[in-house]
Amino acid sequence: MNVLVTGGAGYIGSHTCVELLNSGYGVVVIDNLCNSNPESLNRVQELTGKSVKFYEGDVRDEALLKKIFAENEIGCVIHFAGLKAVGESVAIPWKYYDNNLNSTLVLTKVMEEVGMKNIIFSSSATVYTGDNEMPLREDSRTGHCTNPYGWTKYMTEQILSGMALADKEWGIVLLRYFNPIGAHKSGRIGEDPRGIPNNLMPYITQVAIGRREFLSVYGDDYDTPDGTGVRDYIHVVDLARGHVAAVKYVEQNKGCDVFNLGTGTGYSVLDMVKAFIKVNGVDVPYKIVDRRPGDLGMVYADPAKSAEKLGWKAEYGLEDMVQDAWKWQSQNPMGYGE
Ligand code: NAD
Ligand code: UFG
Repeated sequence: MNVLVTGGAGYIGSHTCVELLNSGYGVVVIDNLCNSNPESLNRVQELTGKSVKFYEGDVRDEALLKKIFAENEIGCVIHFAGLKAVGESVAIPWKYYDNNLNSTLVLTKVMEEVGMKNIIFSSSATVYTGDNEMPLREDSRTGHCTNPYGWTKYMTEQILSGMALADKEWGIVLLRYFNPIGAHKSGRIGEDPRGIPNNLMPYITQVAIGRREFLSVYGDDYDTPDGTGVRDYIHVVDLARGHVAAVKYVEQNKGCDVFNLGTGTGYSVLDMVKAFIKVNGVDVPYKIVDRRPGDLGMVYADPAKSAEKLGWKAEYGLEDMVQDAWKWQSQNPMGYGE
């Protein structure tokens, strides 16, 4: 069976292509490369010894989507394509709503027309409200998002679940990712953010390689064991394998279902920095600074539902995550852009 992977040249998409190909699926990618480099797909092919059919273009381009469905027998779509920078979404909200909502609307319109109604969507733990008790379960409260990016994820969940209610032929899986980090074990594919990284792990690796002077640790006065923010970091390869499990799930199950993809374990910012230094034997200078507006103290998942219904569980631990993040960064100091 062929899987259409939107945003397949990106960080999570490229790792998912590898896992799909290794599991025997054919892979077709559409990506407009607005936040990625096509070299990632060359390396996916190199790692798997299998080919990826690549269409460079925008998911909002209805004619292109129709062409892709006409030229390929697609059995499932994984929809990664989207803009994902929280701060940027506050500065240019229209672009975020246009890209993230219209891509889903155009994609599902074409899927409906061609009668292929299996879709897996990249949602985020950001859809949970900030007043929930930990760990977060799929039925914890959602909404009250604090930025347009979060709203696009929340709204897309509403759109897709409404469609599944109205038409029983849809098989929809909403995956709420916690904090994906790390890279493929080979060090050949990984996260390659443009400009200054927003997220913790790419910032740490860029400090370690000397591209940035020091890490700013955003606050040490949270109600957490060492005062710094706690998150549920998940190895990107585990996350990618969660998508393969979801593809199998939608082949068997109709309706709309939602799953957390996390490990269930929280680590603080300082846990991450210390583990990175210890495992990799490199220094990461850091300074404690003020809290980052909008951040929560502690966020981690209850992954029980994914284990039970998807048969999926994260396998890699903290050591693998920091080691593989560093392997990618040290082998590709400038990402794919060399
Ligand atoms: P990424 O930016 O590396 O990948 C997204 C890909 O989509 C990029 O290759 C980009 O060029 C492409 N793209 C964007 N808009 C497009 C469009 N309109 N048409 C075609 N291609 C388009 O991001 P990622 O980290 O791999 O994230 C993948 C998905 O997972 C996103 O939807 C993101 O919001 C979601 N997500 C990511 C995280 C995270 O921490 N990385 C957490 C939760 C959810
Ligand atoms: N942090 C620092 N310094 C940095 C960057 C981050 O101390 O330079 C801290 C943050 O304060 C937080 C932790 O590291 O405590 C993780 O921050 P990230 O920015 O890596 O991740 P977030 O949990 O803030 O956000 C991520 C994604 C969002 C998504 C959210 C929930 O970036 O897109 O998880 O899934 F919405």
